[in-house]
Amino acid sequence: MDKLAILTRDCAGVNACIRSIVRTCDKLDIQSFGVIKGYEGLIDGNFKKLSRNDVSGIINKGGTILKTSRSKRFYNEIFQKNAIDNLRNNNFDGLIVVGGNGSLTAANIIYEKYDFPVIGIPATIDNDINGVKLTLGADTAVNVALDALDKIRDTATSLERIFIVEVMGRKCGYIALQVALSGGCEEVLIPEMDFNYDKMCEEIKIGNNRGKHSWIIIVAEGAAKASEVSDIIKEKTGLETRIAVLGHIQRGGRPTSKDRILGAVLGNYAVNLLNEGKKGLCVRLNDNCLDTILIKEAIQDKKIEKEIYYKLIKLLT
Ligand code: F6P
Repeated sequence: MDKLAILTRDCAGVNACIRSIVRTCDKLDIQSFGVIKGYEGLIDGNFKKLSRNDVSGIINKGGTILKTSRSKRFYNEIFQKNAIDNLRNNNFDGLIVVGGNGSLTAANIIYEKYDFPVIGIPATIDNDINGVKLTLGADTAVNVALDALDKIRDTATSLERIFIVEVMGRKCGYIALQVALSGGCEEVLIPEMDFNYDKMCEEIKIGNNRGKHSWIIIVAEGAAKASEVSDIIKEKTGLETRIAVLGHIQRGGRPTSKDRILGAVLGNYAVNLLNEGKKGLCVRLNDNCLDTILIKEAIQDKKIEKEIYYKLIKLLT
């Protein structure tokens, strides 16, 4: 293998991953190139040659130095062909895609439909990649959200208020559940589980009568809007509420040590696999075991063990 391209989405740990890919390539005498602005850049042939110097001092930075995009054009076959032509005409031997469900779905198109060698690295704060215990960026996102929540708690406790805090997670309640458990919250709403508003409001009223006036309820964006939950609580309990939507702050920030190491390990492994001629695979580190699954398997809906979720949610009470 002589030449590979790296395409990324943004989340904490991605720069550590790019650094590891470039440095591994350097050792193996492979020339690495970054695709600028994700799939939009691949369609437009926007590549940047990367050297060890380009990746020095980035291990602690959030986002992606390669910039990224949500590309609608890639769903169109004409633009897919442009992207593949750009890879082939520039003599790339392989592509590493670092991203979430959308990025990996596109990666699988490049591999299956156009028979181009691709290795995927799961990176998304949602932690919703099937078969992967922890995706790159998820640990930092939880810690960023937890830090914000601890601050909200200060005012919630001082003013004895009910706060509804909305965190990211379209299909997956990973951030919500982790933050609720580690932040000592009273309730959590996640997309994977049904939720009983009447029961919650009854508990709030009972609590209020016995002198518990401060509540923190975490809502994953895919389960409900904080404003909707707030309206329901106001209507059913007559109590005052406040909301906080944490939004994109969860996707940025300094990566935790866990995300930096995960990025480095997965990046190094991905290069070695491509170099050995492997393709169509997604790398993962589950319980300290580094291995792969098919990208097409990784992009299926994540299978979760509901019993574990039930047990965890019970810990809140
Ligand atoms: O998939 C990661 C994620 O941050 C989700 O949690 C969120 O719903 C979505 O991306 C936001 O997308 P955008 O940055 O395009 O608004």
